[in-house]
Amino acid sequence: MKILVTRQIPERFIDELKEAAEVVMHDDTLQPMPRDKFIEESRDAGVVITMMSDKVDREYLDACENLKAVINLAVGFDNIDVRYANENNITVCNTPDVLTETTAELAFTLMLVTARRIVEAAELVQKGEWQGWEPYMMAGKDVAGKSVGIFGMGSIGTAFARRCKAFGMDIMYNTRSRHEDAERELGARHVDFSELLQSDYVVCTAPLTEETKEIFNKDAFNRMKGDAIFINIGRGGHVVEEDLLAAVQAGEIAAAGLDVLRQEPIQDDHPFLDEKRIVVLPHIGSATVETRDAMIQLCVDNAKQIMKGEEPKTPVKVK
Ligand code: GLV
Ligand code: GLV
Repeated sequence: MKILVTRQIPERFIDELKEAAEVVMHDDTLQPMPRDKFIEESRDAGVVITMMSDKVDREYLDACENLKAVINLAVGFDNIDVRYANENNITVCNTPDVLTETTAELAFTLMLVTARRIVEAAELVQKGEWQGWEPYMMAGKDVAGKSVGIFGMGSIGTAFARRCKAFGMDIMYNTRSRHEDAERELGARHVDFSELLQSDYVVCTAPLTEETKEIFNKDAFNRMKGDAIFINIGRGGHVVEEDLLAAVQAGEIAAAGLDVLRQEPIQDDHPFLDEKRIVVLPHIGSATVETRDAMIQLCVDNAKQIMKGEEPKTPVKVK
C-alpha cells in the first residue's frame, strides 16, 4: 500500500513513512496538488496525508477504492466529507491538541494587534510619516479589563480564554454545549449569540459546520458595538465578507483581524486589502516550527498505525 503526501514535508518524515510503505510526495511547497493529479495518485494509495486545500469529497472518495485513511494536516476538517468517508470504511484523522496553544496565541496576538493598530502604526513609521508625538496619534483600545465573547469554546477557544483571564477580561462564550470546566476555571459565562455580540471583542474560534456558516453576517455586525473588534481564526466560511467590510466602513464596528478568508489565498483585488482597519493574516494560526513539526509527526504516527492495522491516535468522529 502506498502513502501519498500532497505537499512537501521535511525528508526525515518521509524517511519514517518509508519504513511503513512506498511513499509519493507532491514535491511543491507552494502549490497544492492539481485536482486530477491528486485523484490519479490516490487511486492506488492506502493512506493519503492531505492539506486543508485538498477537497476530499464524494467524487474523490468514490474514485479511490484502496483508500483506508485520509490524514489531514490540520485540526479543522471541513475540506473532508467525513460522514461519507466513514460510511465507506475510510478513517479520517486530524491534528488536534498539538496546535492548541500556538493557535490560541495567534488569536490573542491578532486581538492585541488590531486593538493597538500595530500594523497601521508600523506602516506609518516605515513610510516616513512619523511626525512626532501627538496625544491621540494611533490611539487604540485597551484589551485588559474589557469583555470578550468567544464563539466556539473547544480546546483552542479555552486556551484563548485562559490568556483573556490573565488580562482580567470578562469572558463570555457561546457553543452548543456548556463547558463547565471553563466556567469554573476561568469564570467564563455561557451566553446566547445575541449577548455574545455585545462584547468588546468578538472572537470566532469555532470549526466550520452547516450551522455556523455565514453566522457573522450583516445582522450580527449590526448588533455589535460601534467600537467592537471582530477576530476570526476559525474558517472564512463563518463570515459574509461583504457584510464585514460594509460594517467596518460604516463604523458599525471598529476593526477586524482575520487569519482565515472565504477564499485562500486572498485575491489581488480583494477590498480588504485597501481597508486599514481590517488586518488579514495568511492563515498562520498554527504556524510555528515547533507546532508544524508536531502536527506532521502526528500525521506520520497516525499513518504508521493505520498501516499496521492499528487504531490511529487521533481519528475524527462525526457527531
Ligand atoms: C488550521 O486552520 C487547522 O485547522 O489546523
Ligand atoms: C476549536 O475550537 C477547537 O479546539 O477545535
